[in-house]
Amino acid sequence: MTEAAAVPAVDLPGGVTMPMIGFGTWLLRGKAGREAMRAALGAGYRHIDTATMYGNEADVGHVLASSELARDEVFVTTKLPSGKAGRERATLAASLRALGTDYVDLWLVHWPPPDRMLIPVWREFLALRDEGRARAVGVSNYSLAQVDRLIKATGQAPAVNQITWSPGRYSAALLAGHRERGVAVEGYSPLKRTNLANPVLTKIADAHGATAAQVVLRWDLEHGVTALVKSANPERIVANIDLLRFSLSSGEVAEIDALAR
Ligand SMILES: NC(=O)c1ccc[n+]([C@@H]2O[C@H](COP(=O)([O-])OP(=O)(O)OC[C@H]3O[C@@H](n4cnc5c(N)ncnc54)[C@H](OP(=O)(O)O)[C@@H]3O)[C@@H](O)[C@H]2O)c1
Repeated sequence: MTEAAAVPAVDLPGGVTMPMIGFGTWLLRGKAGREAMRAALGAGYRHIDTATMYGNEADVGHVLASSELARDEVFVTTKLPSGKAGRERATLAASLRALGTDYVDLWLVHWPPPDRMLIPVWREFLALRDEGRARAVGVSNYSLAQVDRLIKATGQAPAVNQITWSPGRYSAALLAGHRERGVAVEGYSPLKRTNLANPVLTKIADAHGATAAQVVLRWDLEHGVTALVKSANPERIVANIDLLRFSLSSGEVAEIDALAR
């Protein structure tokens, strides 16, 4: 079994499988950005998270084209800036051109657009998915109330809601709400918003011969949350996906949950 195959995955509607560790690319651009992306593919990441707003889709496309991996071996996400609401089709076409691909695996509405555009944008996302331009569609930074409005209007839930998620923001109710609606949670900024010197995290890390960062990312997986993590540092890129040689007990998960303010 390859390292990549061992990364757990979550099933999205339409037979789409999403690896639960994604390489974040916010702030990764140009030569240094491409080097980090290449290192990530080399370390076993098979899920890359970009966005129109990041200005690096062409870098992602370049790295994918020059890798030995087939297109269908890497799960690629990009996002529509809410300022492009009403121009979904043209924006996705530009993303696909920059990425050098005919489809993305997941296309997200980056932030909720103005209220009156919420449903029209979602309808357009569903249409473009049905045309095969995105294998799955979802949202980011949406409240459960906004998710409910999409479901009520179209009968179709977003496959994913990508939200900020870290121990300090743990909410059992929020996770349960997504589960009830059949919406997979992707968590962003897991490390940036965490004090990695927190004694609860360092104690658990020591018990597993791991780092506090690895414990936080593993905690995501224990909750069924897809962890999106960015690094430009080769050692940290490797360490952040080396999460499969240990797991957390339910007691340890509960201790980390209790860090939420
Ligand atoms: N949908 C949205 O609105 C949204 C918003 C924010 C982010 N995102 C996505 O989620 C991804 C991840 O979030 P993020 O980039 O904000 O935050 P993050 O991945 O939690 O944190 C990145 C920061 O942590 C450092 N870091 C990485 N690994 C580390 C480790 N093992 N130990 C200590 N420090 C480490 C990085 O520095 P080095 O690079 O020097 O390692 C960088 O400064 C983004 O890249 C983006 O793809 C989406």
